[in-house]
Amino acid sequence: MPFYSDELIEEIRSGNDIVDVISEYVKLTKRGSSYLGLCPFHNEKTPSFAVSGSKQLYHCFGCGAGGNVVTFLMEYENYSFLEALEALAGRIGITLPKQEMSGQARAEADWRTRILEINKAAARYFYAQLRMEQGKRAMDYLKGRQLSRETMQKFGLGYANKYSDDLYRYLRQQGYGDEILKEAGLVTLDERRGGYDKFWNRVIFPIMDVNHRVIGFGGRVMGEGEPKYLNSPETRVFDKSRNLYGLHLAKSSRKPQILLCEGYMDVIALHQAGFDNAVASLGTAFTPGHANLLKRYVREVYLTFDSDGAGIRAALRAIPILKEAGLTARVIDMKPYKDPDEFIKALGTEAYQQRIDEAQNSFLFEVSVLEQQFDLHDPEGKTSFFNEIAKKLLEFEEELERNNYIEAVASKYQVGFENLRKLVGRMAAQGMTPRPALKSGVQEKKKKENGMDKSQKLLLTWLIEDPGLFEVIRPFIEPKDFVGEPYEKTAKLLFAQYEEGAVNPAKIVSMFPDEEQQREVASLFHTRIGEIETKQEREKALKETIVRMKQNSINYRSTHLKQEGDDGAERLLEDKRKLQEIQKLHISIN
Ligand code: UTP
Ligand code: MN
Repeated sequence: MPFYSDELIEEIRSGNDIVDVISEYVKLTKRGSSYLGLCPFHNEKTPSFAVSGSKQLYHCFGCGAGGNVVTFLMEYENYSFLEALEALAGRIGITLPKQEMSGQARAEADWRTRILEINKAAARYFYAQLRMEQGKRAMDYLKGRQLSRETMQKFGLGYANKYSDDLYRYLRQQGYGDEILKEAGLVTLDERRGGYDKFWNRVIFPIMDVNHRVIGFGGRVMGEGEPKYLNSPETRVFDKSRNLYGLHLAKSSRKPQILLCEGYMDVIALHQAGFDNAVASLGTAFTPGHANLLKRYVREVYLTFDSDGAGIRAALRAIPILKEAGLTARVIDMKPYKDPDEFIKALGTEAYQQRIDEAQNSFLFEVSVLEQQFDLHDPEGKTSFFNEIAKKLLEFEEELERNNYIEAVASKYQVGFENLRKLVGRMAAQGMTPRPALKSGVQEKKKKENGMDKSQKLLLTWLIEDPGLFEVIRPFIEPKDFVGEPYEKTAKLLFAQYEEGAVNPAKIVSMFPDEEQQREVASLFHTRIGEIETKQEREKALKETIVRMKQNSINYRSTHLKQEGDDGAERLLEDKRKLQEIQKLHISIN
């Protein structure tokens, strides 16, 4: 990403007090050394959104959102990093020197703005066409699908008329050149034919980002025809794996869960029926990017995918992705209807609400899909089925949780709880692991790393809360003992700040170029310390953490000895000596 200098970024960031800025958006109440409010990034009734004036950081203990004043604006306003900086600079009367942004950066920012303008102009154009004489057929089509005028307006529905270069000529008249029109994904340029429209004779569904900016379009044939839907290609403003159709509306829903469906029409039909929490992925598979996006608003996602095989496979793929992001998934059964749109047309709103209430736990859904692969009337088939389930139950590491699921499965399939529990135990003893197809491998790997990550996070949190600790740990721990990013870079920056005399975590956040990283780094400074109260407990926890980190650092470096340079082995020995020393030591803090 193109950058202003670190000094300028820091001047703008530190000139905008985070408490002042966030107070313009969220009602904050002083609580101890920080401020608390309702998190603007997810639905909640009791405040878990904390803003710290001394750290100049915010953090939500509910959804994990976090960052400094720049990332706040990026998240809240959906600004890019540069847009957020511009806004903050304006707020304190700094005019950003244009020359500091490289020519390329300025061009990129302009380009994005121009594409958004074009999209807006096109959306307006389509919208007007639908309501004119030539849009009658499209209007009839939408009415035939039982959409009200109000719904059409709410979703900004439109119509691309029959002329294959109408929009192209209109946008040219507005002063846009071929190159940018092509980049916006709305026209195709052909040497022979000239420019012609991507969408023609289709009903148009504009796609909005969470800030209501038009980022792309979907277009449906009216009636039969191939392809049924045509979608804008990805552009500089349209990233399909990070946007969901309908989220700009669903994010303001007061409902505690999101309904995730497959199609544009499903989202619209659901909203029209009062389910204002429906969204859909954009003709692409559900991704971790989508899950993280949803996590800003809810804890629970209900899948309402098509009832056919493809819909079931899509659900099986989405479940582990949702779980991975820390979201709970449930699956809505719409049989005998195909999708929410058809279901609601046939049985109405209340029946659909009932299906929501009866939605199946995602694990039990996976089990019921598994069931269909076995012949339960055959003793052998039945045995294999239970073996599979027993293996799958191993994915619950907590005993209590696992027992709850064993109980649920046992009662559903009428086998003894104890029998099933023993079978699960035997599987565990044999070192079995859940079938990879039904479990995301990533999840397992992540869990293993988590213990270590937690120690590294804890230490970083402690260090910024009590800079005096630097002196205590410095003989034992250096930035290089932090393993993996963003820990290592963060530790380096933080230690350097301490040497220079001023710990400034909010500054560190802005030194990471990527939004996801900034959020992650911000969360490093807010690790919950749990039940540590007395001085002795703190000292004990600190010592344990240091030992664990040193141990991990040694392990890591002995397996990556090549990268360590000539004296790597020697330094490792030295570190092992240090480790023994720490283990004997009594660490004391004030
Ligand atoms: P479906 O084929 O299930 O259509 O595609 P639908 O949503 O029920 O649409 P209607 O009710 O017939 O109008 C689900 C989604 O998959 C994408 C679209 O996003 C669609 O909403 N899709 C489907 C495409 O992108 N292209 C296609 O040709 C078909
Ligand atoms: Mn449909």
